[in-house]
Amino acid sequence: MNQSRIAPRVSRIKPSPSTAAADRANELRREGKSIVSLVVGEPDFDTPPHIRQAAAYAIEHGATRYTAMLGTPELRQAIAAKLARENGLTYALNEIIATNGAKSAVYNALAATLEPGDEVIIPAPYWVSYPDMVLVNDGVPVTVACPEHQGFKLTPAQLEAAITPKTRCLLINSPSNPTGAAYTAEEYLALAEVLARHPRVLVITDDIYEHIRFDGKQTPHLLAVAPELRDRTLAINGVSKTYAMTGWRIGWVAGPRDLIQAIETLLSQSAGNCCAASQAAAAAALNGEQSFIGECVAKYRQRRDRTAQRINAIPGLSCLMPDGAFYLYVNCAKLIGKSTREGKRLVTDEDVAMYLLEHAGVAVVAGSAYGLSPYFRISIATSIETLMEGMDRIERVVAELA
Ligand SMILES: Cc1ncc(COP(=O)(O)O)c(C=O)c1O
Repeated sequence: MNQSRIAPRVSRIKPSPSTAAADRANELRREGKSIVSLVVGEPDFDTPPHIRQAAAYAIEHGATRYTAMLGTPELRQAIAAKLARENGLTYALNEIIATNGAKSAVYNALAATLEPGDEVIIPAPYWVSYPDMVLVNDGVPVTVACPEHQGFKLTPAQLEAAITPKTRCLLINSPSNPTGAAYTAEEYLALAEVLARHPRVLVITDDIYEHIRFDGKQTPHLLAVAPELRDRTLAINGVSKTYAMTGWRIGWVAGPRDLIQAIETLLSQSAGNCCAASQAAAAAALNGEQSFIGECVAKYRQRRDRTAQRINAIPGLSCLMPDGAFYLYVNCAKLIGKSTREGKRLVTDEDVAMYLLEHAGVAVVAGSAYGLSPYFRISIATSIETLMEGMDRIERVVAELA
């Protein structure tokens, strides 16, 4: 008998390609190769001291036990205040649940709402985890290619065409990983007009990069533009990217009570509440001094400007200026069909990424992981020196292609 011990729902999915790329870069480093890794999507800054101190204080003063399943009242109060202050949205404390990072928030939002066969519309390029999260929950990811000439954004006509009687949910991420594209209030309004014709469709907004904006603009929230969607929208966010708190694992979902309660039930039978000390740290982040955000964004902006300028000066490569997040999504269409010195033809963006890794020692993630090729993603959440070294190397090996 050759029956797999692994559940089919798990066999359907794969480990995150960005983690795989980071692992490969580390492996080559251990072998003694000089590797410039432009893979990871986490701030290279430390969590600000006042947040770390709040956690230390909380640990010394009893934050060592289970908390309410929804999260501590203090944290939910801080989230509610943030949503009111920054997004103009009003949520009661029982309409908010704290989760183990925004990743768990998206996963559990899907797990709580999908029936087998339900379709989830995912604009591509997308964050690598979305389709697999849908698949593992017996849903069907419906990816819609949003090409560069439309700013990598979903148009109302595309949304209308993608909706079927089986559509359960639209998953929208702005600013986006991997493109940095951010929807304007007008663009949201036009998408909301389509959604108005399809009242069964839920919306999940992944707002994790909302504060990483380069144009000085505030990221509009879909619900501030289209409040009529409130009863069918789950608004997801967290502290990971904004406050350099990826290791603390605090995200949240805000939404109508019945859906929040469903997520609460699910989490109460799986993960339980999230870390008590991290909840205290997240509350301190949301309630405290916010100047850290502007300082980080200024650094990201400088890196974006210099790196994009370098990319756009390399014959065969180009990239749009991202509105936000900390990535460049680099178009490598002109490298496809070229050959390496060893005579290997580059056929896919995975070949391009592999070429950059093997010949230049630069690790990037191929666009195929994000559902739109031929591109590769560069993370700018690293020092300007590392980025410039990466650009020098990429420039050199791209010039060697014939
Ligand atoms: C679009 C998007 N959503 C969610 C997350 C996960 O955030 P967290 O670390 O809070 O789980 C990431 C992390 O890379 C992301 O890029």
